[in-house]
Amino acid sequence: MSKPLKQIHLAAHFPGVNNTTVWSDPRAGSHIEFSSFAHFARTAERARFDFLFLAEGLRLREQGGKIYDLDVVGRPDTFTVLSALAAVTDRLGLTGTINSTFNEPYEVARQFATLDHLSGGRAAWNVVTSWDAFTGENFRRGGFLPEEERYSRAKEFLTTAHELFDSWRGDDIVADPAGGVFLRDAKAGAFVHEGRHFDIHGRFNVPRGPQGRPVIFQAGDSEEGREFAAAEADAIFSRYAALDTGRAFYTDVKSRLAKYGRRHDQLLILPAASFVLADTDAEAEQLAKEVRRLQVSGATALKHLEFVWNRDLSGYDPDGPLPDIDPDVSADHVARGRAQVRMYRDPLATAREWRELAAANNWSIRDLVIETGNRQTFVGSPATVARTINEYVQSDAADGFILVPHLTPGGLDEFADRVVPLLQEQGVFRTEYEGTTLRDHLGLDHPDGAPSEQVAS
Ligand SMILES: Cc1cc2nc3c(=O)[nH]c(=O)nc-3n(C[C@H](O)[C@H](O)[C@H](O)COP(=O)(O)O)c2cc1C
Repeated sequence: MSKPLKQIHLAAHFPGVNNTTVWSDPRAGSHIEFSSFAHFARTAERARFDFLFLAEGLRLREQGGKIYDLDVVGRPDTFTVLSALAAVTDRLGLTGTINSTFNEPYEVARQFATLDHLSGGRAAWNVVTSWDAFTGENFRRGGFLPEEERYSRAKEFLTTAHELFDSWRGDDIVADPAGGVFLRDAKAGAFVHEGRHFDIHGRFNVPRGPQGRPVIFQAGDSEEGREFAAAEADAIFSRYAALDTGRAFYTDVKSRLAKYGRRHDQLLILPAASFVLADTDAEAEQLAKEVRRLQVSGATALKHLEFVWNRDLSGYDPDGPLPDIDPDVSADHVARGRAQVRMYRDPLATAREWRELAAANNWSIRDLVIETGNRQTFVGSPATVARTINEYVQSDAADGFILVPHLTPGGLDEFADRVVPLLQEQGVFRTEYEGTTLRDHLGLDHPDGAPSEQVAS
């Protein structure tokens, strides 16, 4: 007998402060006005997606002492946006990226428990640690938490948050039949946590939400990040959307589950994926090339090169050859500790390799950055894209994808209208929501085994 087809999970990442969005397109709108978030969320819900995803950056990015223009447009607060979206959607999951390095468990647990109530059980938390000292300057009084401590704090943070969520249990609390106000010996919300990072006790003040605990996401990629996800997370937001790297990542993290006593289906792997659609595959390939050129302007290409060279390259022509001069490895980095720095640990070797590549292919600076950068994950006609997504999921490169469109906020519409119906026809994507909570959509167990009792307030 053949294996039953896996059901695909689909989610939508609100594109905004990143280099994916093609801002020069006349259809590009605001990435801070509520109408943009609302449009995006409604499209995702109309398409019966599992959830909407918000990333988080806690400091304006800068390079060479100047602020990125996209960042100046603003980065609104995650909980506020998700709460507003809860009011204009009914079923769509609401996933927020919230940092465990710069927050406190009590406030974060309270915010997620509240969001779970407001949304009727649709809250999810992407637990990130943020490694860079640059972000830390905005928050910490006594300097930055060393990199090796981030996951130790993250683990204890999550454990503490779970203790707070679990501090309200249905069997402890009885509604007062007389409805009067009086003091009694109830255990509601009582907690004690003594640990290395947190030493707190008191009473948690939000009853258990419909999901018991919010769904937990992780986006870590290091050994520690993967172990943390295998032990604690319900889903991983990964960067491995290609078939081969996706399968390798999938096998790696799923094989770590058994030692934590967890089943294969208790951790979903959902890579970030971009897409370009057109009537035919050939047209989509052409459009994809154009989109990449629009995503990487000449100025962007030079800024990208500066990450590796660690020098001001503004005098270079982006349509000309790569700099002859070597990267500066002696000084502080122009990008002040941002993520890309870690991608190029050996700038001299990278520069050498890129010069050789550019010379062999007759590439300019801009061509080099476009060609060595990410291609869109899914390119083709709606039929090709639907078939490819399904192939990737059925061959265990992923359990689904978190889609990042290149237009804000309307870039999801075409996918919803043209690809989703084909996946539904193939019987691999829902035509209606079957449950009301995000746990239902993702097929995850309720932490209590069954929905918790609604508690009278
Ligand atoms: C697809 C994807 C999205 C991410 N989004 C964010 C984000 O919005 N905010 C953030 O602070 N980190 C984000 N990260 C970074 C991760 O939290 C993590 O730090 C990174 O993957 C490095 O792994 P490590 O923490 O295990 O070293 C993202 C990572 C991936 C793969």
